[in-house]
Amino acid sequence: MKILVENLSEEELKPLYEDPNQLGFGRIFTDRMFTMRYKKGMGWTDARIEKYKNFSFDPSSCVYHYSQEIFEGLKAYAGAEGQILLFRPEQNVKRMNRSAERLVMPTIPEEDMLQAIEELVVAEKRWIPKAPGTSMYIRPTMVATEPFLGVHPSSEYLFYIILSPVGAYYKEGFQPVKLYVEDTYVRAVVGGVGDIKTGGNYAASLLAGYKAQQMGFSQVLWLDACQHKYIEEVGSMNMFFVFGNKLVTPALTGSILPGITRASILQLAQHLGYETEERPISIDEVIEGINQGTLTEAFGSGTAAVISPVGSLYFKEKDYVINNNQVGPVTEKLYNTLVDIQYGRTVDPFGWVREIGKL
Ligand code: COI
Repeated sequence: MKILVENLSEEELKPLYEDPNQLGFGRIFTDRMFTMRYKKGMGWTDARIEKYKNFSFDPSSCVYHYSQEIFEGLKAYAGAEGQILLFRPEQNVKRMNRSAERLVMPTIPEEDMLQAIEELVVAEKRWIPKAPGTSMYIRPTMVATEPFLGVHPSSEYLFYIILSPVGAYYKEGFQPVKLYVEDTYVRAVVGGVGDIKTGGNYAASLLAGYKAQQMGFSQVLWLDACQHKYIEEVGSMNMFFVFGNKLVTPALTGSILPGITRASILQLAQHLGYETEERPISIDEVIEGINQGTLTEAFGSGTAAVISPVGSLYFKEKDYVINNNQVGPVTEKLYNTLVDIQYGRTVDPFGWVREIGKL
């Protein structure tokens, strides 16, 4: 694919963030973005790396009314030896296309999406932060741009990629987070769109998340929509429960996101000698495990959240504290091994990490 690259003059470049330890998540954006347009009958055209700026869309554009939108999230890391590293980007590209198919949006040839990600990251490499725990978050997005108020798949789309230098997703950093187990609202249903990355899933989670935050919790832990009984996910993370040497995570039933970090942890855990199970796990089993001391740790996993220890679950007006609200050894081992692979600090036995250039 031919990508037109816009060069910016010195005056057009933004000042870099001042303190890489104060980045937070998703508030700072780089100088340029990737854009590409789709029209029915013409396919994808006009691939370019251009100045990061506002878009102008017709107010009747499909995305504003019926949420035909999908996105991805992955990261670029400053490697130990000055390499620019991506973690399993081909998995994000595949998932983006699966999301596109589910919402009747056009797919993008995998090699073109990968090329767009790589060329943009390399072009914007001065923004990749180097402080411990920081990285550059990559957000590929597709929106339906046809100006039309009828409910049908749009005939026009914009695909774009923006970049954001980031630190920890949660203000707690690697300290345990408190989750509110939601037994009234639900996030997604089997047969719906809970297993793809579309903005509507996140919009649907906002009210419960807001209420939980008002009560002092970091996030909501969702239960299944039919019985309000089985653990689903956190919205920004998949969930893992540790029973001694065994990791249990909810099976991919169709209503939870098939996380790339989730899949990587399952593989990594087996490699490190832990047992793993993907199966339905009920909130009752989790609480019984906490009460009896057989459930020794819990953590969430995601690209933004990486591995985030869970210190307590609040369910039906009771707080259940896990591992004394401390980071447990299994969580710590998995976290350290995973990030060492992501930053190129240790051998990558799985071929997950892709070097795309030098800093
Ligand atoms: C990610 O982890 O990349 C996500 O898309 C989750 C989002 C809530 C930041």
